[in-house]
Amino acid sequence: MSIILCKTSDIEDPGSKSFEVKIKRKTRDIFVVHKDGEFFAYYNRCPHTGASLEWQQDQFLDLDKALIQCATHDALFTIDSGECIAGPCAGDHLTPLQLSIQGDEVHLEV
Ligand code: FES
Repeated sequence: MSIILCKTSDIEDPGSKSFEVKIKRKTRDIFVVHKDGEFFAYYNRCPHTGASLEWQQDQFLDLDKALIQCATHDALFTIDSGECIAGPCAGDHLTPLQLSIQGDEVHLEV
């Protein structure tokens, strides 16, 4: 089963966007990053403390838009794997979600 999140053009490249979705009857906060034509999705939950990652609505990336940055203690994560490469949870990972692109729509596979 899949949930339509948005149009591919709704997220700048590079850019990010948050969503609230129902997964297994639970409301969950997730976000999608668009980078170099590809889309990646993770739960909006820092492995350090469980805090939300964004520093402003839909702003999950660092200033260079090269990495995902946690707003609370500045941990940095790679966009494609979600691995924390700097900060208090280095070596940990964001929890990924599976996306598919169908036409011009971004779908979350649940
Ligand atoms: S809560 Fe994300 S780095 Fe501390």
